[in-house]
Amino acid sequence: MAEVRLVSLKKIYEKNVVGVEDINLEIEDKEFCVFVGPSGCGKSTTLRLIAGLETPTEGEIYIGDRKVNHIPLVFLFDEPLSNLDAKLRVEMRTELKKLHKRLSATTIYVTHDQIEAMTMGDKIVILNKGRIQQIGDAETLYDHPVNYFVAGFMGSPPMNFIEGAVEDGIFRAKDGDIKIPIENVKGKVIVGVRSEDIVVDSKGNIKAGVELVEALGNEALLHLSVGDISLIMRMYESPPHSGDVININFKREKLHIFNAETGERL
Ligand SMILES: Nc1ncnc2c1ncn2[C@@H]1O[C@H](COP(=O)(O)OP(=O)(O)OP(=O)(O)O)[C@@H](O)[C@H]1O
Ligand SMILES: [Mg+2]
Repeated sequence: MAEVRLVSLKKIYEKNVVGVEDINLEIEDKEFCVFVGPSGCGKSTTLRLIAGLETPTEGEIYIGDRKVNHIPLVFLFDEPLSNLDAKLRVEMRTELKKLHKRLSATTIYVTHDQIEAMTMGDKIVILNKGRIQQIGDAETLYDHPVNYFVAGFMGSPPMNFIEGAVEDGIFRAKDGDIKIPIENVKGKVIVGVRSEDIVVDSKGNIKAGVELVEALGNEALLHLSVGDISLIMRMYESPPHSGDVININFKREKLHIFNAETGERL
């Protein structure tokens, strides 16, 4: 079918409202590309620009080498499943993927549901405030988020964030007794840790109170507190009970460190 290329695309609405700005993106022929991000981030604006329903303020839209106004050659979906109940939604997700495989049509799909984005997209474009934050497959966005926003948006439960500062190779949390050796970093940072990267460790020097246990059948989500820090930990077997105090640790190689001011990954 067609390859889509967006170059420095910008849409400013009346009263200087930013729809999107500086959108640079290549969507390959036959690719299933998902736009994901919170309400108002510019997903529909980008789609409407590609469809030719809006005129760009600046920038270009290409199919192949041809600069175009709009595209009938690409499938465009804007939150098609958002009004369905959970079960039907999962079924339709599979149907749409099957359809895509059969037709091999370049597809752009808008959703604000990160699960939908992660399960459907070959390529996921994550937007915030009219700007692309990161482009990648689900695994890349989950394991290597480029900034604090992407880290917090992708994944359920969301990544745990701990504010603090690194001095002399030691991170100290601002709101609770958590110390972690972190090399080659100085100053205020936010440490991110996913729920499955927190482990029970009798030698672990982090003492956590179990506030609540959500048993989900195949797994349990433990709501923990360390001083004033709240953490969610995922466990697959024999979870403790609420009221217990447990020793925990973080998988070191799985920690995400962000600059506290800019949100950039360090
Ligand atoms: N026709 C319009 N006129 C003026 N401002 C608009 C118009 N359409 C969108 N906007 C503004 O542009 C920004 C991006 O909106 P857009 O509809 O693209 O977001 P979205 O990511 O699709 O959000 P949602 O998840 O709520 O559908 C928002 O600030 C929105 O208020
Ligand atoms: Mg929209």
